[in-house]
Amino acid sequence: MKTFSLLLLVVSPLFIAVNARSNIRDAPSTTVDIQDGQTGVLMVVPPRPTETGTKRIPDADHPFIAPGPNDMRGPCPGMNTLANHGYISRNGITSFEEIIIGAAEAFNIDRDMGVGMASLNLLARGNAFVNKISIGGVSPLVPPLPGQIDGPETRGIAAHGRGEGDASMTRSDIHIGNSRNFNQTLWDEDLEILAKFGADGPDGPATVFNLETLIELKRQNLESDQLLDPEFAIPIRRLNLVFGTTKQATKRIMTSFFMNQTFPENWFRAASPVLGGSIPGEIAAALPQWVPGHNDENGVFVADPPAPAPFNISSGCAAYWDNFANAVPGSLANVTGIFKQNVDMLTGLLFNASGCSEPVAPAGPTNV
Ligand SMILES: *[C@@H]1O[C@H](CO)[C@@H](O)[C@H](O)[C@H]1NC(C)=O
Ligand SMILES: *[C@@H]1O[C@H](CO)[C@@H](O)[C@H](O)[C@H]1NC(C)=O
Ligand SMILES: *[C@@H]1O[C@H](CO)[C@@H](O)[C@H](O)[C@H]1NC(C)=O
Ligand SMILES: *[C@@H]1O[C@H](CO)[C@@H](O)[C@H](O)[C@H]1NC(C)=O
Ligand SMILES: *[C@@H]1O[C@H](CO)[C@@H](O)[C@H](O)[C@H]1NC(C)=O
Repeated sequence: MKTFSLLLLVVSPLFIAVNARSNIRDAPSTTVDIQDGQTGVLMVVPPRPTETGTKRIPDADHPFIAPGPNDMRGPCPGMNTLANHGYISRNGITSFEEIIIGAAEAFNIDRDMGVGMASLNLLARGNAFVNKISIGGVSPLVPPLPGQIDGPETRGIAAHGRGEGDASMTRSDIHIGNSRNFNQTLWDEDLEILAKFGADGPDGPATVFNLETLIELKRQNLESDQLLDPEFAIPIRRLNLVFGTTKQATKRIMTSFFMNQTFPENWFRAASPVLGGSIPGEIAAALPQWVPGHNDENGVFVADPPAPAPFNISSGCAAYWDNFANAVPGSLANVTGIFKQNVDMLTGLLFNASGCSEPVAPAGPTNV
């Protein structure tokens, strides 16, 4: 029965809002809000799961089913895997609550880390009024923002420039090739590095992506894209993601997630909630030449100017500033009703997690 109620929560964010109402005395107004023909859906941070230990994933209710022709998939193997197993909607159109609950259930992603990921994605690439986002490209199921204040389409996670960007392990830079789908050539290059630097493990010699392998992978991804992509750009919001997308794991596990976008056979989720961990910082420390920056018109890598004070106190705070200055559309600063309640909650959650002393209002370019 637990699974059943979890599914109910997953499919209906409204259900959470409506049910929460009877328990919480001053819940925000849930009166109907219609803007530009769309009905607003109030977002609610899901409670922390009560069970946070290891368990076998997927369970019987979440078999792999390959996506159909109209199902959205995109550049993030983790999101694609969640959708392929129905931990988020199999059509690839998901919501704030669904991302947090699905990632917690399947990957044991800490609730607050899930909140951070979901908040940023909804603000930068989703429709935060109707609480919908595509994990791939433009979908008829995710309308443009009311009043088209971010252009005529809501583009989805796959769109280049705000969160998605260059130097991925398995996707080409947008100016080189296909930035959305798995690229076998890049994965084969990654596996050559594993063969050279990997540690020995249960599946054989040089099959473990240890720290040394991860460092060499990131070095290679960054170096080759900087040379090949004339418009290479790695702003701080992106560099932090590039360093943070991998964990120590085996070749069999990584291949299953990255190439097949499914859980490995006999896989168990982490034994305690997954947080950022120390690996991104260790990779950054090993590659001090890779600072946030971009190629100039001659293809020479130049460092970006640092975040302005007081946002230069840490890379987490600088990335928060970069996101609000450049990735979250400025028109979100001016919304009303349920739209404003959702935007205020998401921006507040990201500020609280940023380590910054002052918040930043959304100020990024629109329709990009
Ligand atoms: C895959 O990556 C290789 C190596 O960078 C590149 O030459 C090729 O164009 C990419 N293919 C696609 C479809 O993006
Ligand atoms: C990936 O999928 C292919 C084709 O179904 C299968 O042969 C292979 O064993 C899978 N590899 C992993 C690591 O899951
Ligand atoms: C932040 O920037 C200010 C103004 O440029 C500078 O005085 C300060 O030293 C910087 N702080 C850090 C931690 O880099
Ligand atoms: C917000 O709305 C006001 C009044 O309509 C307008 O002057 C201002 O430019 C808008 N700001 C943004 C960031 O859209
Ligand atoms: C951010 O933190 C403050 C202070 O702890 C808290 O009052 C506020 O509710 C938090 N904001 C959100 C959106 O959770």
